[in-house]
Amino acid sequence: MLLFICGGVVAVYLLLCVTVFKIPKCKSTAKLHGKTVIVTGANTGIGKATALDLARRGARVILACRNESKAQSAVAAIQRETGNKEVLYMHLDLASLQSVRSFAENFLKNESRLDILINNAGLLMGGKTKDGFGMIFGVNHLGHFLLTVLLLDRLKECGPSRVVTVSSLAHMWGKVDFNCINTHKDLGLGNSDFASLKLYSHSKLCNILFTHELAKRLKGTNVTCYSLHPGAIKTDINNNSSLLWRLVMTPAMLLFFTDVDSGAQTSLHCALQEGLDPLSGCYFSKCAVGKVPAKARDDATAKKLWEVSERLCGLA
Ligand SMILES: NC(=O)c1ccc[n+]([C@@H]2O[C@H](COP(=O)([O-])OP(=O)(O)OC[C@H]3O[C@@H](n4cnc5c(N)ncnc54)[C@H](OP(=O)(O)O)[C@@H]3O)[C@@H](O)[C@H]2O)c1
Ligand SMILES: *[C@@H]1O[C@H](CO)[C@@H](O)[C@H](O)[C@H]1NC(C)=O
Ligand SMILES: *[C@@H]1O[C@H](CO)[C@@H](O)[C@H](O)[C@H]1NC(C)=O
Ligand SMILES: *[C@@H]1O[C@H](CO)[C@@H](O)[C@H](O)[C@H]1NC(C)=O
Ligand SMILES: *[C@@H]1O[C@H](CO)[C@@H](O)[C@H](O)[C@H]1NC(C)=O
Ligand SMILES: *[C@@H]1O[C@H](CO)[C@@H](O)[C@H](O)[C@H]1NC(C)=O
Repeated sequence: MLLFICGGVVAVYLLLCVTVFKIPKCKSTAKLHGKTVIVTGANTGIGKATALDLARRGARVILACRNESKAQSAVAAIQRETGNKEVLYMHLDLASLQSVRSFAENFLKNESRLDILINNAGLLMGGKTKDGFGMIFGVNHLGHFLLTVLLLDRLKECGPSRVVTVSSLAHMWGKVDFNCINTHKDLGLGNSDFASLKLYSHSKLCNILFTHELAKRLKGTNVTCYSLHPGAIKTDINNNSSLLWRLVMTPAMLLFFTDVDSGAQTSLHCALQEGLDPLSGCYFSKCAVGKVPAKARDDATAKKLWEVSERLCGLA
């Protein structure tokens, strides 16, 4: 009897692994010689796997990261594995608007092209950015917002080009409370696991709304943009969370989460797949367009978020 139950559990688990948790491979065979790509947070996790694949396709790949030693070891690893020497590190700390500005300035001065921007970095940790914004909102949304805006002219010159922003399924539990942004420079306070998870969901909803509004503003240019859920992927994203959260997530990750190569596939699909232009502004999951709730495609909220973000970045 016990054997029977165990067998059933294993069978259901295996079935889940090949269905619900399985992510199809990006089918594009595009080569990227002569193209330049930026991947933020590319020293580890999904970003590193994405950068590795792009380097293998011959792109000049810029790892935009906050920690030099971690980034340089990723550069060395990717160069070794792909034989592509045009993989380099440039410093970017998304938790500082000044760092975002310096990065963009350096990049625009030193590099002649930008074909693909992948806004991948993200975290799930409380605290404040250098500018006093909540860390999760500041890094996951605001830093990437400013980065993209500062690089848009170069992307337009190099079209057809793309902006890919890594969101999450967690956007489903998110909301955008503009009153809260006005009073806290944030979407709430992350002083518990539960509060941080809420902020994370809010920031991931912002990623989708940002992409929705960006697509509208890019109409008539050769730049398109996409947001996505990478899947449930084994990475270091929980390493800085509380013990309780890690106790819950570590076994879940071991059992159900997939590897970083699978985690990179939907980012690669959005960056490379031909024929996606009519879908600019859409959200993807498992290398296909995904459904989003009405709050994630609300024109008025998306426009207002853009305007508030401009103001918070000192652009307006
Ligand atoms: N893993 C999942 O199951 C999952 C699910 C849905 C969505 N996502 C999204 O996928 C993306 C990648 O996450 P991951 O799972 O690969 O996590 P990860 O392994 O923790 O990697 C996150 C990357 O972001 C970087 N980063 C964090 N704060 C930064 C800052 N202030 N400036 C510059 N870079 C910064 C990290 O740098 P350090 O190494 O220096 O910390 C790291 O390179 C995130 O946007 C995440 O929200 C992940
Ligand atoms: C960069 O990462 C290394 C290795 O994890 C760590 O020892 C070091 O303190 C980090 N540096 C900064 C500036 O955060
Ligand atoms: C960009 O160019 C400047 C001046 O030539 C140089 O000092 C800097 O190191 C370069 N940065 C990168 C990341 O190549
Ligand atoms: C978009 O790209 C096509 C083909 O490269 C080009 O003919 C067209 O002029 C471009 N449009 C804009 C607005 O740059
Ligand atoms: C994150 O935690 C996992 C599991 O505890 C560990 O294997 C990994 O080395 C940690 N990564 C970093 C960068 O500390
Ligand atoms: C955890 O946070 C510290 C500083 O806040 C940072 O230096 C470190 O890289 C983080 N580790 C991971 C795995 O995100």
